[in-house]
Amino acid sequence: MILPIVAYGHPNLRKVSVDITPEYPGLEQFIDDMWESMYYSIGVGLAAPQVNRQIRLFVIDANPYLKTYPEAEGFKKIFINARIIERRGELWQYNEGCLSIPDVHEDVSRPAEVHITYYDENFTFHDEWFSGINARIIQHEYDHLDGFLFVDKIHALRKIMLKRKLLDISKGDIDVAYKMIFAPKKRK
Ligand code: CO
Repeated sequence: MILPIVAYGHPNLRKVSVDITPEYPGLEQFIDDMWESMYYSIGVGLAAPQVNRQIRLFVIDANPYLKTYPEAEGFKKIFINARIIERRGELWQYNEGCLSIPDVHEDVSRPAEVHITYYDENFTFHDEWFSGINARIIQHEYDHLDGFLFVDKIHALRKIMLKRKLLDISKGDIDVAYKMIFAPKKRK
């Protein structure tokens, strides 16, 4: 089932998500829905809070980046209860986007390598380092679990220039090819 994507400005995107257990109801179906929703909206990553579930789960398929970034080959993973242990390496800029913030792309600076522990869909524990575009996407999705968005990390001046556009998104005043959940209207 394709799930609607929570849009920028919705307070639920700012919540801190919680760990789950293997008994989490409907986990298998939810993971299927995450993949289906991510591919439908043409994303390379999707975090559970973006489909309005405040749980520490995200999915990534970096294969569309294969041509430019060889490390993306075969990088299709589910991260459950992930914890970033360490970030290292040079900071590098990349023009990021986010399914919750349609048509906005901005340069974001992040460390090149990330050490992360997580469980996969079978609740097998992993302790791994990732680098390059893989580390980039992991850090972007991981931020969603703590209520952060990539636009929080851009230059203050760029943020001011984006203000109108972000306001339009939060009001639902946008053309987007997939279904979205917008912030509840403020009472007058
Ligand atoms: Co995002």
